[in-house]
Amino acid sequence: MTFSALSHLECSRDGSRHDADVVQGTSPLGAPLLARYDLAQVAGTVTREEIAARPPTLWRYHELLPVRSEQHVVSLGEGMTPLLDLPRHGARLGVPRLRMKDEGLVPTGAFKARGAAVGVSRAAELGVRGIAMPTNGNAGAAWAAYAARAGLDALIAMPVDAPEITRRECVVTGAELYLVDGLIGDAGALVKRAVAGRTGYQDTSTLREPYRIEGKKTMGYEIAEQLGWRCPDVILYPTGGGVGIIAIHKALLELRELGWISGDLPRLVAVQAAGCAPIVEAFEAGLDESTAPADPRTVAFGITVPKALGDFLVLDAVRSTGGIAVAVTDDELLAAQRQLARDEGTWICPEGAACVAAVGQLREQGWLGGGEDVVVLNTGAGLLYPDTVPVDVPTLAKDGVIPAR
Ligand SMILES: Cc1ncc(COP(=O)(O)O)c(C=O)c1O
Repeated sequence: MTFSALSHLECSRDGSRHDADVVQGTSPLGAPLLARYDLAQVAGTVTREEIAARPPTLWRYHELLPVRSEQHVVSLGEGMTPLLDLPRHGARLGVPRLRMKDEGLVPTGAFKARGAAVGVSRAAELGVRGIAMPTNGNAGAAWAAYAARAGLDALIAMPVDAPEITRRECVVTGAELYLVDGLIGDAGALVKRAVAGRTGYQDTSTLREPYRIEGKKTMGYEIAEQLGWRCPDVILYPTGGGVGIIAIHKALLELRELGWISGDLPRLVAVQAAGCAPIVEAFEAGLDESTAPADPRTVAFGITVPKALGDFLVLDAVRSTGGIAVAVTDDELLAAQRQLARDEGTWICPEGAACVAAVGQLREQGWLGGGEDVVVLNTGAGLLYPDTVPVDVPTLAKDGVIPAR
């Protein structure tokens, strides 16, 4: 068995085949390219038990990842994050079987490390000299870290409003960083022009290179494996560019084709913030593509993506699984962040908190049943967003008095 069963790339619009062993961007139609594997070969040579016995990183699924040679794996120990029970908070929301896949515990503090580990490894394997990308912060920080680990250059452009810590993450790992007075799309246009003038650089913008999605799909593999190769009833995902939800859908389809899971897939829920909810609007209008909102704005900065290249794939993931797309307000998600921390001791990012708030909303509407197995994705650590929690506590003089209780 070879290290990877990667066979080819497939255009997500017309299904045409493309060479996986050269550096690729989007398909000739401008659509994302999806990696395809020889799944029959994988099913014939690896078992779920063998996978379970491997080290606890996402590379345990290496046959289903695109890196051909083990020596090209660039790792900081990413993957196999905990799937935490949330009994107290679940009971509060009327969903006692609520769990959270906690991606705050990966290197760089956000799930973006998964896409970066696989994307950078494959870029290095294919001979790329530098990666270049626009980002809402976390992805740039992750790709900068893995590029440093791989010995590649990293050119990152992010909106000035992106979480401040992510700038520092880029700087400390030696990336070439630019702040842009605009949104992620503006940063993307700048990067595109820069890459055109540099040899050996690859534009690794969201869904404009094929392998970030492959790293992120391991969230789907892990959820199934951690539940004993079984699916939950519902998975909620904070959707910006949509890579994660597209990837989880892809992962579950692959597992089913491998025969490692059976039955219906979980209903996939795309959660957005009310201040930037193009996917929700398209879903509700019965459309296959989204339209950018006029003034996108939310405290959940990672999901401030006005127009996602893969919007049609997100909508397909949601609709084909019987899922839904929902928006929550910033007040609701910040309240959920605070209440979850009080109930369970875990401080999650505002994007993850949007999913927790959405659970409450969907339970109230009756869309979620009280006996269902529900998994929310927390895509990053609350520590990356210190400003989401105001601190209003007394400062005491040295001889002050702490009230008796
Ligand atoms: C913390 C966090 N959650 C979610 C997202 C959205 O990611 P996706 O592109 O997978 O929709 C981002 C993207 O920047 C993010 O930083």
